[in-house]
Amino acid sequence: MTPLGELLVTRIRQTGPMSIAEFMAECLMHPRFGYYSTHDPFGAGGDFTTAPEISQMFGEIIGLSLAQAWMDRGSSAAVNLVELGPGRGTLMADILRATQSIPGFLDAVDVHLVETSPALRAQQSKTISTPFTHHNSLEDVPEGPLLLIANEFFDAMPTRQFQRTGDAWRERIIGLQEGALAFGLSDQTAPAFLADRIQDTKDNDIVEHAPASQAIASEIGHRIDTHGGLALIIDYGDWRSLGDTLQALSNHQSVSPLDTPGQADLTTHVDFEAIARAASPAKHSRVTPQGVFLERLGITHRAQVLAKSLQGDALDNHIKAHRRLTHPEEMGTLFKAMAIYKDTETLPPGFEP
Ligand SMILES: C[S@@+](CC[C@H](N)C(=O)[O-])C[C@H]1O[C@@H](n2cnc3c(N)ncnc32)[C@H](O)[C@@H]1O
Repeated sequence: MTPLGELLVTRIRQTGPMSIAEFMAECLMHPRFGYYSTHDPFGAGGDFTTAPEISQMFGEIIGLSLAQAWMDRGSSAAVNLVELGPGRGTLMADILRATQSIPGFLDAVDVHLVETSPALRAQQSKTISTPFTHHNSLEDVPEGPLLLIANEFFDAMPTRQFQRTGDAWRERIIGLQEGALAFGLSDQTAPAFLADRIQDTKDNDIVEHAPASQAIASEIGHRIDTHGGLALIIDYGDWRSLGDTLQALSNHQSVSPLDTPGQADLTTHVDFEAIARAASPAKHSRVTPQGVFLERLGITHRAQVLAKSLQGDALDNHIKAHRRLTHPEEMGTLFKAMAIYKDTETLPPGFEP
């Protein structure tokens, strides 16, 4: 058992079972033993690889699409460029490099990174040379027009799970069985936020609910509705939550979520419908597969340009990276993009119906 696992066993003995959201929050963000508080999990030597770590193309074309959206909105003289959960800082560094050639863009943006992990904050300060400010939460970012990107951020938000039983629900919880962490079910409950899920579920179906994601989405929606701008949310998930999607990854392999608390990454699929609803009255685009989104933004053209200066292994790796980001059997379909934007402003690039 890991040190965090022992701590959680003691806590459950003293205060009773915990929700899956509480377990996720401890495993990911416990100040001493949490996964993100202690690890740099990215890349081939880590536990997983994210799109910006696969290829610079991802950040470059996201950057250009944000700059295009800024121009479409009248090239405001002051706009907050915000990233939620920037990991190693690679995506923001690529965005800032790619937009150097857009007249006035970098003078107009104030860069803000929302990051709670001290280890990753230190890494971001090394990667990004443009001045920026770190924050613990989006609420701490000054109000103003917004250009926000969140790539693989919402999947790390603590998520509760409920299993249907008749016309009621039982929450999936974590307790003890013979001294070890084990999944169980709470007594029956009927939370108001699940009232409309009785129509489209059947007995024993599991539905997930991420209160922290909804609070952040609501803050995003409020800011965009008040000051204008847009948010790009890219993650794995679907329009509506159905089924148990809790997953633990260690060293690029799937492991049991309860086996190594604090030492494996824990995620759930993102419920884009819940985010879109929470962000209302700001508008939302269609949920668009990542491959389609990147193709529409011109990733293949960018790949061809970059390929001209590459050969041998570098060229092979570049071709593989393009496929990995866009192909339906790789990240192209599982990952989705959705934009939140102000209803009086234009639809951001890449989301055309
Ligand atoms: C899977 S990583 C994604 C990293 C990056 N966006 C990328 O694409 O490479 C999740 C990031 O969210 C951060 N994070 C997780 N929970 C957070 C929270 N509640 N507030 C702010 N950052 C958080 C993690 O520390 C990490 O930087």
